[in-house]
Amino acid sequence: MTNNLEDQLLALRQEGETAIASADTLERLEELRVNYLGKKGQLGALLRSMGQMSAEERPKFGAIANTVKEAIQNSLDQQRTTLESAQIQAQLEAETIDVTMPGIYRPQGRIHPLNGIIDQTLDIFVGMGYTVAQGTEMETDYYNFEALNTPPDHPARDMQDTFYLPDGNLLRTHTSSVQIRYMEKEEPPIRVVAPGRVYRRDDVDATHSAVFHQIELLAIDEGLTFTDLKGTVKVFLQSIFGDLPIRFRASYFPFTEPSAEVDLQWKGRWLEVMGCGMVDPNVLKSVGYDPEVYSGFAAGFGVERFAMVLHQIDDIRRLYNSDLRFLQQF
Ligand code: DAH
Repeated sequence: MTNNLEDQLLALRQEGETAIASADTLERLEELRVNYLGKKGQLGALLRSMGQMSAEERPKFGAIANTVKEAIQNSLDQQRTTLESAQIQAQLEAETIDVTMPGIYRPQGRIHPLNGIIDQTLDIFVGMGYTVAQGTEMETDYYNFEALNTPPDHPARDMQDTFYLPDGNLLRTHTSSVQIRYMEKEEPPIRVVAPGRVYRRDDVDATHSAVFHQIELLAIDEGLTFTDLKGTVKVFLQSIFGDLPIRFRASYFPFTEPSAEVDLQWKGRWLEVMGCGMVDPNVLKSVGYDPEVYSGFAAGFGVERFAMVLHQIDDIRRLYNSDLRFLQQF
């Protein structure tokens, strides 16, 4: 009987090792573990039969049983490692990312030509020590006209067809209103650049829009002269358009005296690009500055016009209809 038990133990080891080596899933491996080494497993059953042995025989078989248990446990461990790494390997292969596959195309954004001009202008003036200011698009008659030396009966009001609101306010017709708002709050010396949207009751066509953009300049100090105005405007225009001839032509604006229109020689002809002048003493008085002490210059221009000249755009409406075929060119 004792030899028989030894044979049974060795046979169990043989059978267990073979079965474990051919287990092809972790679930199957667990079944085998329970079957051989579990509480109600085969090894346990054999060990229980040792209970009938004599005390001398027991240790010998106990030792054999231990080697069998260890051997089966080793096989289980080894096979578990093999199956687990096979599983990881299979997962890695199944989840491989092909980094050479084409990605999802995302079109890149661009700076709109109008914002391009605004950004460039602000950069240039901030570089010359100017501060960026903004006003409001809905304005009172006072800021848009009256404080700018344009009383209600002034013929210059016809130069700017105005959208009046039912409450008597209006949509600003130019960014010149920001001059007044800024001077009321600050004291000289002043250097300010003010971009913004303006409104005119124009018929819309290739060169007119009811809403467009302007940029306003204002400098107030002791002793500023027309020469300062010319130098500033020249530096600015040449950094936008290049080193082209510029001329100042006498003109009229209610808020400047003298006033001038600036022309730029562009592709062989003179193009009118901005209005400017020395701030009228009446404007200085309207914000409480003493015209005997302070003088200054102002200028204003249309952003759309700059963009159209610079990029040879033939229709102002192209700047507003968000057609990507058009915008992607800039
Ligand atoms: N506000 C004028 C316009 O919209 C442009 C302008 C002219 C602004 C002369 C100025 C200036 O500051 O000095 O037509």
